[in-house]
Amino acid sequence: MKIKTPLATIFLGIAVISSALAEEAKMPAIIPLPQKLEMQSGVFKLTRKTRILVDSDSTRDTANCLAEKLRASTGFPFVRANVSGSDAKIKNAILFSIENVNTNLGAEGYSLNVTRNGVVIRASTQAGLFYGAQTLLQLLPPEIFSTKAVKRVKWQMPCAQIEDWPRFKWRGLMLDVARHFFNKSEVERILDTMALYKLNTFHWHLTDDQGWRIEIEKYPKLTEIGGWRSGVGFNLDPKSTTAYGPDGRYGGFYTQNDIREIVAYAAARHITIVPEIEMPGHSTAALAAYPEYSCTGGPFINATTAGVFNGIYNPANEKTFTFLENILSEVFKLFPGKYIHIGGDEVPKATWKNSADCQALMRREGLKDEKELQSWFIRRIENFVSANGRSMIGWSEILEGGLPRNAAVMDWIGGAQEAASAGHNIVMSPVRYCYLDFYQSTNHAAEPTAASWGPGTVTLKKVYSFNPSADLPPQSETFILGTQGNLWTEQISNLKYAEYMIFPREFALAEIGWSSELSRDWNDFLSRLTVNEKRLKEIGMNFRPVSDEPAK
Ligand code: ACM
Repeated sequence: MKIKTPLATIFLGIAVISSALAEEAKMPAIIPLPQKLEMQSGVFKLTRKTRILVDSDSTRDTANCLAEKLRASTGFPFVRANVSGSDAKIKNAILFSIENVNTNLGAEGYSLNVTRNGVVIRASTQAGLFYGAQTLLQLLPPEIFSTKAVKRVKWQMPCAQIEDWPRFKWRGLMLDVARHFFNKSEVERILDTMALYKLNTFHWHLTDDQGWRIEIEKYPKLTEIGGWRSGVGFNLDPKSTTAYGPDGRYGGFYTQNDIREIVAYAAARHITIVPEIEMPGHSTAALAAYPEYSCTGGPFINATTAGVFNGIYNPANEKTFTFLENILSEVFKLFPGKYIHIGGDEVPKATWKNSADCQALMRREGLKDEKELQSWFIRRIENFVSANGRSMIGWSEILEGGLPRNAAVMDWIGGAQEAASAGHNIVMSPVRYCYLDFYQSTNHAAEPTAASWGPGTVTLKKVYSFNPSADLPPQSETFILGTQGNLWTEQISNLKYAEYMIFPREFALAEIGWSSELSRDWNDFLSRLTVNEKRLKEIGMNFRPVSDEPAK
């Protein structure tokens, strides 16, 4: 018998286990590693007659979701039935139960018990049951992820007892759809694997200098003009992408219906979407469409090449705030989650310095420099977000000139400690650990072109070594919502390449966000990766092979 606890202790029981049983009790390759996993002897075999049982109508969707996956690869029917509470009678079945749940498991935790007779998954929420189902899939051979029936596979899982809950409640992935547009089915594909690895927050970077991707009914030019460019830019091969509209322009956008469908698709997988509407900088695409909200009046082009972008809103024009508040009002209706991301990063201040109106506004409001003007801008927006019952989150720079009362900070270049010590929530996403647009190996020549500023390389091992609470005093820990990987797409011009940059680094992020810090073990993680690569192959997901990982 082996027990895996948060202390990563391996306990060998006194029972003499035959070599066959020992083989059956091999540690399964689960990512993220569960908090408590006790292997027991024996296996449970799925058969044609295995049923899926629920003790609550509310659990039907979760049970159906698992049944659908199991049916596809095994070809077995997995008939679903309702039962009342007890698991004493479980015989060749998988029971989802919301009764007799250990309340210490929290809002996303679950227990999973595999015996020779079947599986019992207990949780107090559907999210918990859903995560139990994801773990169950990882107890089975990787072929379980095939979308077509597979013959000659022993559909069995080792007997085990698992108790599991996440370390953090924000386990995120950010996708930049502004530099490169990923269509609805591409986004859904990324959401699928997030759910499989228990990530629960999709940060959707919807607007930037190069593109505006969300339909706003009141301002149609945002997508008519801001959604398209005449070429791919960033010196990329135009043939590397498929994101061309019918007229040959590069780009695209999501209609509000697309967005509603993606939000529902994510919710069914217990993923909350955090939309990002960038302001006051990184706004060239918006100002290409509506230059009247800039300081200079334009013209602006959501340019085709990398370079200096001066698209920055004019805070001295009241109509700028009406424009942004009208946009945000439509955003609130589309996204039900608590957090709205307003960007706030990398705002060039020269435009405000050179604007007589901005300088007059600063004098009127007693603002001593453009950083305070930025803070004044962000505070106004934060008031509006709060008045609408939501919470604002922004990048590190929203700390400049003073942080608004209710704002959360996404740390990419620092500020977490300052924000947390003032009682603000933080999401840890530092460049050197969490930026997935950088090379995965120091041998850049052997890799597809990637971002090369800053650290230049963020290896899998580097990501895996990240501890979100390492640089924070213990009293700040409660303010860490969690952690997030960010895929910026200046160089990422198609889905296959995005997948390659996300995997295997998403595995490390999943483990950092969910598993105990004390269980971190690089070699053990690597051994589990190889099985997870097989899972990705079954799904048809591209990834950077672990065998390409340098030994050191
Ligand atoms: C950022 O990477 N500019 C947040």
